[in-house]
Amino acid sequence: GVTAKIAPSMLSSDFANLASEAERMLNCGADWLHMDIMDGFTTYDWFVHNFVQLLYSFVLIRHFVPNLTIGAPVIESLRKHSQAYLDCHLMVTNPLDYVEPMGKAGASGFTFHVEVSKENWQELIQIIKSKGMKPGVALKPGTPIEEVYPLIEAENPVEMVLVMTVEPGFGGQKFMPEMMDKVRTLRKKYPALDIEVDGGLGPSTIEMAASAGANCIVAGSSVFGAAEPAKVISLLRNSVQQ
Ligand code: DX5
Ligand code: ZN
Repeated sequence: GVTAKIAPSMLSSDFANLASEAERMLNCGADWLHMDIMDGFTTYDWFVHNFVQLLYSFVLIRHFVPNLTIGAPVIESLRKHSQAYLDCHLMVTNPLDYVEPMGKAGASGFTFHVEVSKENWQELIQIIKSKGMKPGVALKPGTPIEEVYPLIEAENPVEMVLVMTVEPGFGGQKFMPEMMDKVRTLRKKYPALDIEVDGGLGPSTIEMAASAGANCIVAGSSVFGAAEPAKVISLLRNSVQQ
């Protein structure tokens, strides 16, 4: 069966003290560290995204989310201080360009978005595995769950599905309970699959996610904002294990 993986999102940590923040989370009982890699967005991109996308998206969209966080150099630095499983979530339009640098940097999991890999996912999965990383696929709230089925059923399959429960880009947003239908459907169809949820998870939303069948839980603001993160982490774990 599937086991609980609690993955604090380092996006909510103090980036200036990343190594000690990582160590603190591991001491609090974290299984994985969730690393959000984003490719940035400008006002111009926003305009393009919203108004021109309909006609020219295949040419003009260059960024995936309206935020810029960390990249392979930071993963490489953190890897020198920690043996932790680094669960890397790539919110970028060109994941293929990141596989090699992320592998070299010491990433453990490489989760790309299905929205930007319609053509090359087979190649992506194969290269991710060849670099020694665990391949995963993520989907935005507006993307139907059916879109990831071929990637799970492929000869060379993804090993995790990340169901976004907020629009990707920022920590601290509100959990979207309507995404639990996707989790339930996936769990029914694939009893042994690692299913990760990301966005707005904490003590008040974990029951919905756990009972729907999620076993990998990303939590940023609820863990880092807590007076006692260890208590939140064990609460999240207990909900999944019930
Ligand atoms: C959002 C990121 C999340 C985020 C979650 O784009 O993918 O990992 O850090 O943060 P919380 O738990 O605060 O919603
Ligand atoms: Zn994430």
